[in-house]
Amino acid sequence: MVLELAAGAGDTGFEVAAIVGEAGHLTSTDFSPAMVEVARRRGAELGVRNLEHRVMDAERIELENDSVDGVLCRYGYMLMPDPARALRETRRVLRPGGRLALAVWGAPERNPFFAVIAMPLVQRGHLPPPEAGGRSPFSMANEGRTQALLADARLQRRRY
Ligand SMILES: C[S@@+](CC[C@H](N)C(=O)[O-])C[C@H]1O[C@@H](n2cnc3c(N)ncnc32)[C@H](O)[C@@H]1O
Repeated sequence: MVLELAAGAGDTGFEVAAIVGEAGHLTSTDFSPAMVEVARRRGAELGVRNLEHRVMDAERIELENDSVDGVLCRYGYMLMPDPARALRETRRVLRPGGRLALAVWGAPERNPFFAVIAMPLVQRGHLPPPEAGGRSPFSMANEGRTQALLADARLQRRRY
């Protein structure tokens, strides 16, 4: 059983659903009902069968303790008001030995999307500059802070 948090249109999870196959199961979630609807349509178009969709806030995961083998979250924790809480919730629902795979944005200067589109707006005063650790897509860009958040949630980091 794999849980995807902040799944958006769901594509990352659909790839995992194909890997785990009919013997496995994906629960694709997002706190936006509209995004869950998009993911539901997309999953149906792709013919993904070992899948359910649920509206769920990653900071309040509506699942039992130790109930999932893996959690997936791409570009999600970095946008949450309380990523520490979401990571503690993630740890709670992961069974012992379960895995979390996550991706967050790195520093703005290494992010072409931000550099090309947003930086000129920041330079002209139309957008506030991103704050490390504050509410922005770069809130987890600092590797040390992200490491500390993971450690506080009792999630041990591995590099691949
Ligand atoms: C940048 S999109 C990423 C979507 C997808 N994971 C991807 O990589 O394409 C961020 C998503 O996080 C969702 N989100 C933000 N905060 C959330 C929360 N607390 N719980 C669940 N979903 C959340 C948003 O609704 C949005 O769909």
